[in-house]
Amino acid sequence: MRLSLRFIVPLLVVLALFAYAVLPLVDGLTVRWFMRDLDIRATLITNTVREPIADSIRVGDTARVVEALTRITEDERIYAAVFCESPLAMPLSAGTLPPDLRCADLAAFAGQPGHIVTSAQGPLFMSVRAVVHENRPAGDLVLIHDMSFVTRRSEETRRYVFALFVGLGVIVSLLTVVIAQLSWRGWEHGVRALMRGEGLLRAENRPDVPEFRPLARDLRELIRDIESERRPRDEDHFAWSPDALRAVLHNELRGQEVIVVSNREPYIHMRKGEAIEVRRPASGLVTALEPIMRTCSGTWIAHGSGSADREVVDRHNRIAVPPEHPGYRLRRVWLTKAEEAGYYYGFANEGLWPLCHIAHVRPTFRTADWTQYVRVNRIFADAVVKEATSPDPIVLIQDYHLALLPRMVREALPAATIITFWHIPWPNPEAFAICPWREELLDGMLGSSILGFHTQFHCNNFVDTVDRQLEARVDRETFTVSYRRELTAVKRYPISIEWPLSPELTAMPVSECRAEVRRRHGLPHNQALGVGVDRFDYTKGIEERLRAVERLLERWPEWVGRFTFVQIAAPTRGGIEEYDHYQARVRALVDRINARFAATSSHPAIILLSTHHEPDAVHQYYRAAEVCMVSSLHDGMNLVAKEFIASRDDERGVLVLSQFTGAARELAEAIIVNPYDTDECASALQAALEMPEREQRARMRLMRGLVAEFNVYRWAGRMLIDAAGMRKRRRLLDRLVTPELRPAAVPTVDQTA
Ligand code: F6P
Repeated sequence: MRLSLRFIVPLLVVLALFAYAVLPLVDGLTVRWFMRDLDIRATLITNTVREPIADSIRVGDTARVVEALTRITEDERIYAAVFCESPLAMPLSAGTLPPDLRCADLAAFAGQPGHIVTSAQGPLFMSVRAVVHENRPAGDLVLIHDMSFVTRRSEETRRYVFALFVGLGVIVSLLTVVIAQLSWRGWEHGVRALMRGEGLLRAENRPDVPEFRPLARDLRELIRDIESERRPRDEDHFAWSPDALRAVLHNELRGQEVIVVSNREPYIHMRKGEAIEVRRPASGLVTALEPIMRTCSGTWIAHGSGSADREVVDRHNRIAVPPEHPGYRLRRVWLTKAEEAGYYYGFANEGLWPLCHIAHVRPTFRTADWTQYVRVNRIFADAVVKEATSPDPIVLIQDYHLALLPRMVREALPAATIITFWHIPWPNPEAFAICPWREELLDGMLGSSILGFHTQFHCNNFVDTVDRQLEARVDRETFTVSYRRELTAVKRYPISIEWPLSPELTAMPVSECRAEVRRRHGLPHNQALGVGVDRFDYTKGIEERLRAVERLLERWPEWVGRFTFVQIAAPTRGGIEEYDHYQARVRALVDRINARFAATSSHPAIILLSTHHEPDAVHQYYRAAEVCMVSSLHDGMNLVAKEFIASRDDERGVLVLSQFTGAARELAEAIIVNPYDTDECASALQAALEMPEREQRARMRLMRGLVAEFNVYRWAGRMLIDAAGMRKRRRLLDRLVTPELRPAAVPTVDQTA
């Protein structure tokens, strides 16, 4: 009944208002119609009596005139009939004449439409018509009609109209109630069927019920969200591959757009004379993310640092990459020399880099660098906002160059899911406290929905730092930070590499790689080979590694002339004093060691290749070597270790790995060393070179299994699944919980996975 009243009451009110407005109109119209009729009637009567009246006047027989007038007044509606021969004449009349009527007053109305006069008897309608016979005017005939019947009829009409509206109102109300009840019942059944999952498909496909489509879609999403929340995830038996990652994107995130932001770009266009060369930079970040982007598509925003970068982009500064098979969009951001110097070389690499790595290099913080850092982060934030095609994209922010970006993006796109991954270690709270802009950096990072580190140790350090520096609530049970009414989940996502490797990287058989590398450097075919692949960076422990090689040759001189260590050191961050000094020191060390053993060997102990090498060239060295040495003094993960393992499909070769890398926590079958302990490192090299094939195979098999399982698709997939979980929980809360009861932030990600 309440539902019916909801329809009927407004309907009746509207109809009543309509009737109220319409009645005076109907009334006026009725009166006008009657007046027109009376006028026609007056003309008709005049035409009928003009001849006898004119004849009587001509012969002066006024009695006959009055007689004619009397006959006219026999009509009950004619109140009086008057004849005026001239304005000065006495009126001849029949019926009840208004007392003050004079012929002089009537002359002005001759030939005009009639008009209403009020009298003691009520409203009267007076028409004045000239009596013309044989083209000679004989006088004016005045007919006075009683208007009281008009008033009576007008009242009657009003009653009819009112009754009509009431009737109409009742009929329309009844019809509305019946239709509403029927439709409501239909909707109720339909929604129940949808909720049971029965009608979802039919309703969406039925073209005759288009109203059901949005409802069906919403319910389908809701049901899927609830179901996927309930579904147990057995990831232990899940093989992560490009297809699996694509499925996560498609099923969990409905193909939502992914935007990656990093300082370093995956492809650099360099001008070489007339030609333009495309380079893949030496960067763990690029190694990890590039296969992900090839799988997921989307947009990668990065600094365009190549000399020919501007020449190849379109007018939106975009270019489709990889160049051979374009699969995603690279959007380049341009920086001035001053911006690059302050933001990249200064604040990021002279400040944050040494701050986060324990490599005994003091960080340098300058206000001017900080200003550029803020400015460049803003430039990247603007680019993200411009590239986003939806209000809630998934934004993957990379590394220490862009610590302020999460907050900036959060402010511009509040519904975005922001995943920030910190590729380098996070220091302990005491170490971090020396940064003058520590609070601003933490505030910026806590704009993220999810904040990822390689190891639990770095997560712990970060949470401790926040606890120490900010007014934030840290929950160590769920590993979340609640800050500014938003929740950030802090979680470990150990980065990795693609698995299997791109076929072209392992296309050349190991035997050929061995022969080719030895031939290239003029070494005999049975020369034992060690390899190190790094950016030419002081955190990589290259000096320590070379001293270990020297110690090996000292302690086991049988290797002099039979063992060569090839160090690939990709040029990096040139112009930073600390790097220039370091690189000069390493070169001098190489010269000294080679000189020391030159007398007893015709082959160099160390070959330093300090030029850029493309991935296929690097893999040739991996496949050619007996041992790969990673001796970082401090490293978030170190993907060289994993690349070496992936490269060795022959299950040969030994990895010597620094205990201060994230990789050491996963690759237990490597020979783990302390890079500061030269003797231990030398022994490790000796053990590697002497290791029986069987043992090499066993260790390599285990490590390859681990890298295969914990590959980069898992790294990205885990983050995206967590992001999807957050988005679902947010949607469920938005749909099911009233705004007042909603928690300040979405609950945390699953920390167990
Ligand atoms: O892997 C750590 C890292 O800082 C990456 O984040 C970065 O891309 C890489 O080293 C190379 O550094 P750059 O981009 O300064 O050449």
